[in-house]
This record gives sequence, C-alpha cells and structure tokens, in this order.
Amino acid sequence: MGKLEELQKLKQEMEADSSLPLRKTDTNLVFGVGDPNTKILFIGEGPGYWENLKKEPFVGNAGKLLDQVLRLVNIPRESVYITNVVHHRPPENRDPEPDEISAYGKYLDEIIKIIDPKVIVTLGRFSMGKFLPTARISSVHGKSQVVQFKGKNITIIPMYHPAAALRNGSLMFEFKQDFQRLPDMLKEAESLTEAKKDLDKEDESQQMSLV
Ligand code: URA
Repeated sequence: MGKLEELQKLKQEMEADSSLPLRKTDTNLVFGVGDPNTKILFIGEGPGYWENLKKEPFVGNAGKLLDQVLRLVNIPRESVYITNVVHHRPPENRDPEPDEISAYGKYLDEIIKIIDPKVIVTLGRFSMGKFLPTARISSVHGKSQVVQFKGKNITIIPMYHPAAALRNGSLMFEFKQDFQRLPDMLKEAESLTEAKKDLDKEDESQQMSLV
C-alpha cells in the first residue's frame, strides 16, 4: 500500500471513531492535505471556522499568511504535507485541552509514521510541545533541533503560529524572518540528521564496549 492509500485508510478510521472528544454534529474531520511523499511535515494547532467548512487545514486568514510565507521562500504548499494536533474544530476556536491533544495524538503519530518526514515544522506552541515539551516558543522559534521521535531522528523547526503573528506586529516580524531562513534550515537538516546518526552509533559502540 502506498502512503496515499495508508493515509486514506487512517482517515476512514478517524471518521469512524466516535470517541474523538471534539467531534460534534457541526464539526467535520480536517485530516490533512499535501504531498504524502514529502520530506517536510507542517503541524498546526487545530481547525478553525473555514478549515471546518472546507475540511482542509490552513485555509482561513492564518492559512493565507502561511501560503504567503511559503511563496516567499519558494516552497509550494502542495509540495509539503500539512496537518494539525487536533483534527476537529475546538468550540469557539479555544485552545485544545491536554486530554484532547492526547486523544488525537495516536492518529497524529500514525500520520507522522506514514509520511516519515525528515523535518517537522511546528506552528505554534501546541505542536511544538509534542516534540519539545519543556521548550518556550519565545526562546526556540526559528531554531532547528534534532529529536528522537519513536526511535527516529527528526529535525524539528519550531515556528510561531501564523495566527499569533497576525495578532502581534513584532511576532509577525520574527515569524517572517524565521521563514526566510527556512530553506537554509532545511539544507542544514540533512547534515544535522546524519551527524546525529553518527553520534548515536558512537554512543552505541561505547555502551557495547562497557558490557
Ligand atoms: N490554525 C491551525 O492551527 N490550524 C489550521 O488548520 C488553521 C488555523
């Protein structure tokens, strides 16, 4: 089965899962969009009004800003995959609660496993928190780091959420500045991941020699 079919199967499972806490009569499943064979996965927070209506992530005002910065750095939206931490719209666009994040988390983990990205760009503190639970976004935004996630090295690039940038002029400046550095960070990511692999191997062989 190809990645597209695997994602479609997972989407059907989610559609049938009546235990998902944000599922209501007026919420649609907003699963994800983009190229399943990409190396770059974007993860936002959760669908808003327009996303719920169109069943696609980042199609409202925040999405327009995301499209704008992607164009700025010549990364076609269709060439990456975009999803969220929760896949149904929280009431009144409130922040997702920890138990909601964990209920949707098993599906997000599956999406990550299927796509198997080299780089995850997190948009906002909720998706950042999945990989860097103790980090503060004001300190780490725009700085890539390699983490071990389910036994694999993945480069995480934490970015401010576009909706936060739209609300705050100085964040907008930093948000755009961070995105301008994205192509360089993506290039670096390849070598960072390789270097981390070598370090892990070194660690492993040192541990073996202690046995
Ligand atoms: N904000 C998000 O975090 N995700 C969306 O899909 C839209 C807005």
